[in-house]
Amino acid sequence: MKLKQHLNQLIQDAFTKAAIDATPMSVSEATKPEFGDYQFNGAMALAKQLGKNPRAIATEIIKHLDLTGLLLNAQIAGPGFINLWLNPLAIATACEEALTHSRLGILPTTTPQKVIVDYSGPNMAKQMHVGHLRSTIIGDTLANLLTFLGEEVVRQNHIGDWGTQFGMLIAYLEEQGSQGGSSLKDLEQFYKDAKVRFDADEAFANKAREYVVKIQSGDSHCLTLWQKFIDISLGHCEEVYSKLGVKLTREDVKAESFYNTALPQVVTDLKSQGLLTTSDGAQCVFLEGEEIPVIIQKGDGGYLYATTDLAALRYRAQELGATRIAYVVDARQAEHFKQVFRVAKEAGFVGEEVALEHIAFGTMMDPSGKPFKTRDGGTVKLIDLLDEAVIKAKATIKNQADYTQEEVEKLAKIIGIGAVKYADLAINRESNYIFNWDKMLSFEGNTSLYMQYAYARIQSIFRRFEGEIVGEIIIGDSLEHRLSVMLLRFEDVLQRTAIEASPNQITTYLYDLVTLFMRFYEQNPILKEGVDEATKMSRLQLANLTAKTIKQGLEILGIEVVEKL
Ligand code: ARG
Repeated sequence: MKLKQHLNQLIQDAFTKAAIDATPMSVSEATKPEFGDYQFNGAMALAKQLGKNPRAIATEIIKHLDLTGLLLNAQIAGPGFINLWLNPLAIATACEEALTHSRLGILPTTTPQKVIVDYSGPNMAKQMHVGHLRSTIIGDTLANLLTFLGEEVVRQNHIGDWGTQFGMLIAYLEEQGSQGGSSLKDLEQFYKDAKVRFDADEAFANKAREYVVKIQSGDSHCLTLWQKFIDISLGHCEEVYSKLGVKLTREDVKAESFYNTALPQVVTDLKSQGLLTTSDGAQCVFLEGEEIPVIIQKGDGGYLYATTDLAALRYRAQELGATRIAYVVDARQAEHFKQVFRVAKEAGFVGEEVALEHIAFGTMMDPSGKPFKTRDGGTVKLIDLLDEAVIKAKATIKNQADYTQEEVEKLAKIIGIGAVKYADLAINRESNYIFNWDKMLSFEGNTSLYMQYAYARIQSIFRRFEGEIVGEIIIGDSLEHRLSVMLLRFEDVLQRTAIEASPNQITTYLYDLVTLFMRFYEQNPILKEGVDEATKMSRLQLANLTAKTIKQGLEILGIEVVEKL
């Protein structure tokens, strides 16, 4: 339920009744259980504004607060904080409702926005690297979340499939004949081999240069070779997507080459608006306050990364009708996005109302704090990394004899891939991320295994119970109270995460939820002898809602759950 919105409305109503002419600030979660469930801290700022005593204002607000529904009690604390207690009956009913609803009572928005999520974006001339892994994982989660909330999401994979390197690469592919495809499995190696040929053989180098020009002028033989190269290369990326279980498809690919024909118009339009300056022979946009200009077209006529992004911005805003465009790209490209966003707005390619966001993330480091590389300093191949995750995950499955071989494999995949994803999502995305197998594959702490284990544990309660759940949720003690409130907070967490594009808010929530549930379960046994029927039924429902919430949360993160662990 939209808990905060509901509480804010109650405060707003109290303001109106008390004839306080102001918009209250939002309530926040109480920092300690003894301060209630929520608190309203707006009385102090208001007092300053109105030149009144904060406690007097807080008293006034409380006097007019409706305590007959969701709220049970409100009390002043300190200089004028208002602590709020939710009504156990109201939260019990809300939890019961969430349980009967397939989406836990969370309704899709009635005013959907068209949101573009630009993510993954591997380069076809290079091996997909760990930076693309982060983009793919974070971007997919964001797209899942926004879709769940009812937004109209368009996933865009802005792959790098254009540029001078492709002349050399397709010349080499052609030379390799039917072998070419399989040696492309290792793009890094393929590139190196092509480069060796390029440097050693003048005739080959000339051909490569000739092919660059030919692709650009639309020569059909070269374009066919190029297409073949892209297909194979993209095929390898898709293998990674499939292992990861991310939802990117070929339809989501709008590669750099897609914008080729739109590039001259970008230059023309910028020129006609007086935004272009010739500098060292290149066409540039100088932005106020920025030292380095945005280069739009080089002296030799070539276009740049920024030019393509400007064309893409225009396409997304004008053709796709996006009102929010989110780029899940490495933080090191912050300057690039800051500049192209400004140019796009100044040139009117994108309306003022369209939100342009760079969802930046930090670099992936190895446990010693260095950028992630193989032992010999090469790029870690993602496919190998994911395979290793599954192998390591298999080793964590203790009672393998209880499963068939097939089940073990499936379980290992779910655990291994889930661990890689969760570890990435659980940190503040802008921080650098230290990749640590032991930590991510631990049953303890804020890990996917901890969540999956809690989920499976609840399922085992239901396997033992085997009955039909009837009756109501009864909030009997403070842990039951806190657990219910925590469960009801889920929608607020999702909403915030969607606005801030910060998946770690979901993981933090899940961790708090599961930790609280474990405490609840320890103190409030469910199936133990001596627990009366009504209490048992109530606790079963709380456990059930907890499991459903974990499952839904993980699903948004692109992580599966298992029934037994
Ligand atoms: N291919 C780029 C890279 O590997 C990422 C593309 C991001 N998207 C964009 N519209 N620029 O760095």
